[in-house]
Amino acid sequence: MSTLIQPGTVLLSAEQIAPIVARLGREISRDYTGRHPILISLLKGGVVFLADLIRQITIPHHIEFLQVSSYGGGTTHTGGVKIVTDLAVPVEGRDVIIVEDVVDTGMTLAYIVEVLRLRNPGSLEICALLRKRVGTPAGIDVRYLGCEIPDQFVVGYGLDYRENFRHLPFIAALDPDPA
Ligand code: IMP
Ligand code: MG
Repeated sequence: MSTLIQPGTVLLSAEQIAPIVARLGREISRDYTGRHPILISLLKGGVVFLADLIRQITIPHHIEFLQVSSYGGGTTHTGGVKIVTDLAVPVEGRDVIIVEDVVDTGMTLAYIVEVLRLRNPGSLEICALLRKRVGTPAGIDVRYLGCEIPDQFVVGYGLDYRENFRHLPFIAALDPDPA
């Protein structure tokens, strides 16, 4: 058990997260007026963000879920990405917005974008709450970005360390860093 590992420095409090999510909701509502986008949340980390985001979106939209695995349960990328649970609906011709919690190496998004493009969506954009300052790979354009954070492993607001800490209403760095 990881009982010695606890969330440490708070990077974003609940009070700081709320206006960021509200801004993203306004931007999406503005850009998709007259359309009917489908927001695809990446399970499980993106689910708290999605729940708050859609309550800030004022236009009609659908939500769907896609579960991929990229991390082996720790804090380092295993290198592989695979679909664990696929979408329940086709996205051909639809305006798709991928809703991601955090972009780290960008490998997860690169894979998902590649898979979804093959399904011929009408459009495909990315909304990410956090992006680490590590340099996102070419071809990954985060159209709707909450904020950039230092290259630290963070938990809370849906983000986990070995499935723990998702329930925290704030985002904190792990302390001590187990990496
Ligand atoms: P990437 O493929 O390296 O961009 O990693 C993206 C995925 O890894 C995210 O969807 C998260 O599930 C997970 N991840 C990356 N960094 C963190 C972190 O700091 N805390 C928790 N999960 C993370
Ligand atoms: Mg995730």
